[in-house]
Amino acid sequence: MSTATAPAVHSHNSETANFLNLVIVDDERTVREACREVARTLGYNALAADSAEHVYRLLESQVIDVILLDLKLPGAGGMEALHRIKQERPDTEVIVVTGCGTVQSAVQAMKNGAYDYVTKPFSIDELRILLERVSTHLKLKSENRILRERIKSKQGFCGIVGTSPDMERLYRMIAKAAQSHHPVLILGESGTGKELVARSIHFSGPFRDKPFLPVDCGSLVPTLIESELFGYVKGAFTGAVQAKDGLLSMAEGGTVFFDEIGEMPVDLQAKLLRAIQEKEIRPVGSTRRIPINVRILAATNRDLEQAVAQGNFRRDLYFRLNVLSLKIPALRERRQDIPLLAGRFLDRVSRDAGRECTLSDGAMKALLAHDWPGNVRELENCLERACALNSGPEIQLTDLPSGMNGGNGHITIDKNGSAKILPMSELEKQTILGTILQLNGDKLLAARLLGIGKTTLYRKLKEYGSPEC
Ligand SMILES: Nc1ncnc2c1ncn2[C@@H]1O[C@H](COP(=O)(O)OP(=O)(O)OP(=O)(O)O)[C@@H](O)[C@H]1O
Ligand SMILES: [Mg+2]
Repeated sequence: MSTATAPAVHSHNSETANFLNLVIVDDERTVREACREVARTLGYNALAADSAEHVYRLLESQVIDVILLDLKLPGAGGMEALHRIKQERPDTEVIVVTGCGTVQSAVQAMKNGAYDYVTKPFSIDELRILLERVSTHLKLKSENRILRERIKSKQGFCGIVGTSPDMERLYRMIAKAAQSHHPVLILGESGTGKELVARSIHFSGPFRDKPFLPVDCGSLVPTLIESELFGYVKGAFTGAVQAKDGLLSMAEGGTVFFDEIGEMPVDLQAKLLRAIQEKEIRPVGSTRRIPINVRILAATNRDLEQAVAQGNFRRDLYFRLNVLSLKIPALRERRQDIPLLAGRFLDRVSRDAGRECTLSDGAMKALLAHDWPGNVRELENCLERACALNSGPEIQLTDLPSGMNGGNGHITIDKNGSAKILPMSELEKQTILGTILQLNGDKLLAARLLGIGKTTLYRKLKEYGSPEC
């Protein structure tokens, strides 16, 4: 049985079937080989079987997405095989191949759950169109399934919380990215959930059972990154008493997540690019190249375009990684998610502390008005600390960090202990947002009480990126 991955891109359509598994079941070798070739150029992992029994064995050992099944098979006939396959693996789509003039059996096959049929002899184009159609169908089916699951559990993928339109968009992008095998660049400020998103892409995709290996390019010693990624052979350097696999080969079939990719030294960027492009690596100290089959995800909170312009990041690697890019919005741009996130974190903190922690109205208002430069992580830490400091069941405004609890109004004390006077624009913003909150979201009343027009109020809310607008 061959599980070889699709060859390098040959046609425009080679991405359509991105690593879907397909089996061609036919007792004629020439037919099997011709179909296999077409399927491979479309990006399928194409396997072949010469009998129904053979395909049953394949189904036991792996997930097969599509089967091209000749109805005229020796032994257990094709129709019986179709019946059994659809019963045991209802998600596997079967395209039946019928002989000329046997429309009746094609109709019967469709009734028995076949996805479609094609009559022998068929042209390469006919087959190509069919295979493209079934792969698009499978992708949509899978995206819908992921979205349905998410809606069912009322939360994002793999524990991502948020229902704002921005997050909804992000979930759709994650669902799409999960089904592709291209690199994805995940962008977002610190603490917005880049790693969480990377995990979701991996764990909601078809290779979720394969490894997900994160590499923190920011904290690894630059000289170690190379051996960590590519592995090394015995004696490659002092201390290399035995050979070691690198992450790129250990993740075989799965994902390597390059966190803080912007921190990767420039010379290693070239080696990484080569590994991605050629799908092979050379362990440190070795002359031999080893093929790899991994999906690359990368994240950064740096402006990579700027790094490219300054010569700190390779343009070619940037383009390679940026095939798909996901931007996670800052928390202040989706304040409506704050209560949901706070609720989630408080549930967890309460469980850990063995007592219930809730938020007073005043504290919740302060959370909603804060700008969260450290994003979701800052919110999480803030609530953990507030719960630890507070002995009663309800977190009060005074339990929150000084910058958030109103303190001295327009004078705040920063981390270094020096006083900072808030500029007028910030005071105005706090007043507007605070008033709306106090009025339970009544913007018209807020505008009237503040003595400004409602268009001005909406414009300002838009400037603040507030969901109130
Ligand atoms: N939408 C979210 N729902 C639930 N938890 C979240 C969400 N976003 C982030 N978190 C939590 O916030 C913390 C920070 O997330 P994560 O480490 O993924 O952020 P990051 O963008 O990688 O941060 P950094 O840039 O600092 O590495 C984690 O504990 C994560 O579980
Ligand atoms: Mg991170």
